[in-house]
Amino acid sequence: MIIAIDGPAASGKGTLAKRVAAHYGLHHLDTGRLYRAVARDTLAAGGDPSDAGAALAAARALDAKSLDDPDLRTPELGEAASLVAWHPEVRKTLLAYQRAFARRKPGAVIDGRDIGTIVCPDADVKLFVTATPEERARRRYREFKDDGIDVTEKEVLADILARDTRDENRAVAPLRQPEDAVLLDTTNLAIDAAFRAAISLIDAAMGRAGRAG
Ligand code: C5P
Repeated sequence: MIIAIDGPAASGKGTLAKRVAAHYGLHHLDTGRLYRAVARDTLAAGGDPSDAGAALAAARALDAKSLDDPDLRTPELGEAASLVAWHPEVRKTLLAYQRAFARRKPGAVIDGRDIGTIVCPDADVKLFVTATPEERARRRYREFKDDGIDVTEKEVLADILARDTRDENRAVAPLRQPEDAVLLDTTNLAIDAAFRAAISLIDAAMGRAGRAG
């Protein structure tokens, strides 16, 4: 059983994916952490995230045990992650880990930007989670404030818009809603309501897949 959840930055997909995985007893992988970890390691080695060679070296040497690092959530690493994610060689290197994770029993919920399109095109259920940029900026700003990170809501919105543009316009694996995905707009939904909506969409999609098979 594979559930693919895609969507833009701060759409709520990460929190939803975690709760959906717990609900169905599945593994969970937040693939943004892979790109953030590559960005962290590139910078730690004195490299430039825009430089394909430096980012590729970090991707090849990535230690999966370092993905739990709480410092991966900073705005700087979000920005640097979207730069390393631009390089096709980096994406290719991270693909094997993601596909191997998807094969874990009894199944996995994987969230990111290209899960339903590239990583797991045969996923049992695909969800595309979105919200307006303003609402996403409000949420991310609150999270940063709670974590003691010093940014303004305006800066967070500018960062989100810049990342959306970069993620949607890159040549390889751009962010887009897979044709066979179900859309969940969380703009006017608090997290509990979004979770209930996700479960009912997933149950309905599984019911349809079950009948078809
Ligand atoms: O989701 P998160 O904000 O942690 O992702 C950080 C960046 O990593 C994104 O802006 C995107 O550029 C990149 N990413 C990606 N493909 C994924 C997951 C994340 O390109 N599957």
